Amino acid sequence: MTKYQIAWMPGDGIGLDVMQAARLVLDRIGLDAAYVPADIGWEFWCQEGDALPQRTLDVLRGTTCALFGAITSKPKEEAERELRPELRGTGLSYRSPIVRLRQMFDLYCNLRPCKAYPGNPLNYRDDIDLVVFRENTEGLYAGVEFRPFEGEVRAALEKHSPAMRRFKDVPAEDIAISARVITRTGASRIVRSAFEYARRYGYQTVTLVEKPNVLRETSGLMVEAGRAVAAEYPEIQFWDTNIDAQMMWLLKNPRDYGVLVTSNMFGDILSDLCAQLVGGLGFASSGNIGDHYAVFEPTHGSAPKYAGQNKVNPMAMLLAVKLMLDWLGETDKALALEAAIAAVVLEGRVRTYDMGGSHSTLDVAAAVAEKIL
Ligand code: NAI
Ligand code: MG
Repeated sequence: MTKYQIAWMPGDGIGLDVMQAARLVLDRIGLDAAYVPADIGWEFWCQEGDALPQRTLDVLRGTTCALFGAITSKPKEEAERELRPELRGTGLSYRSPIVRLRQMFDLYCNLRPCKAYPGNPLNYRDDIDLVVFRENTEGLYAGVEFRPFEGEVRAALEKHSPAMRRFKDVPAEDIAISARVITRTGASRIVRSAFEYARRYGYQTVTLVEKPNVLRETSGLMVEAGRAVAAEYPEIQFWDTNIDAQMMWLLKNPRDYGVLVTSNMFGDILSDLCAQLVGGLGFASSGNIGDHYAVFEPTHGSAPKYAGQNKVNPMAMLLAVKLMLDWLGETDKALALEAAIAAVVLEGRVRTYDMGGSHSTLDVAAAVAEKIL
């Protein structure tokens, strides 16, 4: 019996290319694991009306954690048009399978390390070492949305929120509402994850990034819960800042920060900025982590124009594998993989197009594998 069962979800487009690269490196590392294929992605939506079929959920429930490549998502009308004809008009609606996975398995912590590996020509500056913790299940992406905006919900909001009354003459079809949901439990556990990480890996600061002066209730609760957690970690400095100013400071003085923690949508935006400081989509990895399960992925999408060309940078995927090894407690293997990635970047001999080279996805993976002792 192998030690780990790892769900294997390449998904769409370049997801397949980078997962092939991941497999090459994992085989070299010799992880004691079985890789269990699971269906996810656009073709399952088109053929079956579900991009995340029930059988995939069953596979995930029997595994230790999952590796995921990327998926293609399309807007509502286009999604409906691409369904198999028999399924059209049956009321199916597309929802991002990765968002569903995060909610279904309560993968509340989105961990996105952004480290500048020396020698990467895409680094904004060297020595950047930021780690973003993004809340993954609540906030503006919780899925509480209304359009048309009418009936009881509208009446209740108009009754209880003076701010809502300004919009009372807008026709129901011409106004849309998304609710930003923050719970004390949700806020506390993401901030706690950030502090635990800072303690374990020796970061000196945790910065909670919100906007409590405007979003008085939701950001307000986040900051309140954050302060309470921070008090349990007196050896780590705690700062709270506003999202807008923080984006500027990250460009101006990225080396001043360590661990950053924030709610779902702010985290989505902030982590893309941080990723760009250290090499962009080709280097951005993430873990979706809950108390009992985790899904690791590069943050890029399926990049259809490069699909199947063995051309894109696999580093983001390989760094996601590194995060998985950390989470599994395979610390030596994680360190060996990271050292191999750093060595390939520094040497600069084998590079994909985004780094100014002309090597393939698998060339880079092979170069990394070769460095693993
Ligand atoms: P994308 O991330 O797929 O690609 C944007 C561009 O970034 C690419 O055209 C390419 O130039 C570059 N790029 C991406 N990954 C790269 C890599 N590993 N190496 C080098 N260059 C890379 O984003 P886009 O084009 O906006 O979306 C394409 C599809 O992916 C859409 O259907 C979108 O919904 C989906 N998507 C899925 C995500 C996921 O699976 N987690 C995340 C983001 C988008
Ligand atoms: Mg994003």
